[in-house]
Amino acid sequence: MSDSKNDRQGLKKGLTNYGDPGFSLFLRKAFIKGAGYTDDALDRPVVGITNTGSSYNPCHGNMPQLIEAVKRGVMLAGGLPMDFPTISVHESFSAPTSMFLRNLMSMDTEELVRAQPMDAVVLIGGCDKTVPAQLMGAASAGIPAIQLITGSMLTGSHRGERVGACTDCRRYWGKFRAEEIDGEEIAAVNNQLVASVGTCSVMGTASTMACAAEALGMTVPGGASPPAVTADRIRIAEQTGAQAVAIARAGLTIDKILTPAAFENALRVLLAIGGSTNGIVHLTAIAGRMGIDIDLAALDRMGRETPVLLDLKPSGRHYMEDFHAAGGMATLLRELKPLLRLGALTVTGRTLGEEIERAGPGFAQDVVRTAADPIYPQGGLAVLRGNLAPGGAIIKQSAADARLMEHEGRAVVFENAQDMAERIDRDDLDVTADDILVLKHIGPKGAPGMPEAGYIPIPKKLARSGVKDIVRISDGRMSGTAFGTIVLHITPESAVGGPLALVKNGDQIRLDVAGRRIELLVDEAELKKRHAALAPAGTPDWAKRGYAWLFNETILQADEGCDFDFMRENGKG
Ligand code: FES
Repeated sequence: MSDSKNDRQGLKKGLTNYGDPGFSLFLRKAFIKGAGYTDDALDRPVVGITNTGSSYNPCHGNMPQLIEAVKRGVMLAGGLPMDFPTISVHESFSAPTSMFLRNLMSMDTEELVRAQPMDAVVLIGGCDKTVPAQLMGAASAGIPAIQLITGSMLTGSHRGERVGACTDCRRYWGKFRAEEIDGEEIAAVNNQLVASVGTCSVMGTASTMACAAEALGMTVPGGASPPAVTADRIRIAEQTGAQAVAIARAGLTIDKILTPAAFENALRVLLAIGGSTNGIVHLTAIAGRMGIDIDLAALDRMGRETPVLLDLKPSGRHYMEDFHAAGGMATLLRELKPLLRLGALTVTGRTLGEEIERAGPGFAQDVVRTAADPIYPQGGLAVLRGNLAPGGAIIKQSAADARLMEHEGRAVVFENAQDMAERIDRDDLDVTADDILVLKHIGPKGAPGMPEAGYIPIPKKLARSGVKDIVRISDGRMSGTAFGTIVLHITPESAVGGPLALVKNGDQIRLDVAGRRIELLVDEAELKKRHAALAPAGTPDWAKRGYAWLFNETILQADEGCDFDFMRENGKG
């Protein structure tokens, strides 16, 4: 059998190896014809569509409608749509944490995209880890790929106040903990926080990655913002299907889209939207699959010149549906234009700059601010370094308390999440509002999976007396929907003997966000002594076998995106 280009397309791609390629194709066609396909259908460009619908994933609850619309778009453009299931990961239904499963989902996506015959793939994702996992997998698979976002949920209403997951979840839970509201009211709020299927309605990780995906050029224009249950979202799905056929025909592979310029644009957008700190980890992981390093120092420099323009919770006031009504990403990109790499190619085959022009002039709205009147003068995220975080740490300054940005305080240490859960609400906990809460062992290996436990609750005795914020430090992550003066992603983590492991109750810690420093004020000789006394890290019980073993053996630190060392381009750790 010849190996012409035509033989490497459509159903003829990647034949199962029976030692006789002609027979392999004959058999493949025989089986698929069992589903009623004609030869005409089977000769078309094949567009794979990842089906990440799951009863455990209400953020993807519109999957059937999206798949139907993508298929319509594919067929209108003359292609053959083939949907197939992959792993689906929801934040609240993934133990120990969704991040533990992100790399597994990326591997599943990559291998199924590679193993099954398709000329392009539509990746349908939305909930926090799904879009990063899909982009990581597609980046490694290397074929033409296009991202479809499931879209945000609608907002609800509690006693006349508009509410949405999950900034308001945390706010109301904080009120309940502080005994400002009773059990009846918190139960009533619980019915309103998630008013429809779709992803969290604020600038959490899902919305952040939706915006980042569009900034990367991986969605059709306007693909980030339509809510899940709207006609706009369905139209985007149809357009995505049609565009998938176009990129299949053009051979527009993902490496032409995911370039250093595209990642720079995504980081600009991440900063300008007050995006989730998780976005840095995910973009680093996706870039790593392309052999591109995300330099935290460069990110911090960009942060100093990129204002927060998007007035969305948790940094601002609005919700994703308001962003969509305000024109979505076109409005933001138009405002950010002087800072963008406009020549970056997108899945439309046009550049980002051309797409901004095609979107036309803006209109009056109050969700995307102008650069002259930002909601925060610098980027939402700052990168800290110091003897407590030699590999870096992150703070979401736009969601932090300005009074605490320069702060020195006494460490109140929790050895792990369980220790924190047991002691944080005790009345005899020795803590004041001027202290710094330190939580160890919630990093990539420590918990495992770097759970979003970095949003350490305000100790009950302080919450009751009206304390709304306190400096908190950990090697974990926090939800993009959370807020507070919270230092995250301390690298290296405590479970691998990072300096965070050495902190003791009563030590002084200095946080200096303006100077980008986080320092443990303990002399070097004492730190060396403490380091020598650390117990050697063996294989923990949870990591004795299976995927958990693989995870523990190969997970990289936050500054390398928490990918597995062997999954990065050429397996470089
Ligand atoms: Fe799925 Fe928030 S839980 S996006």
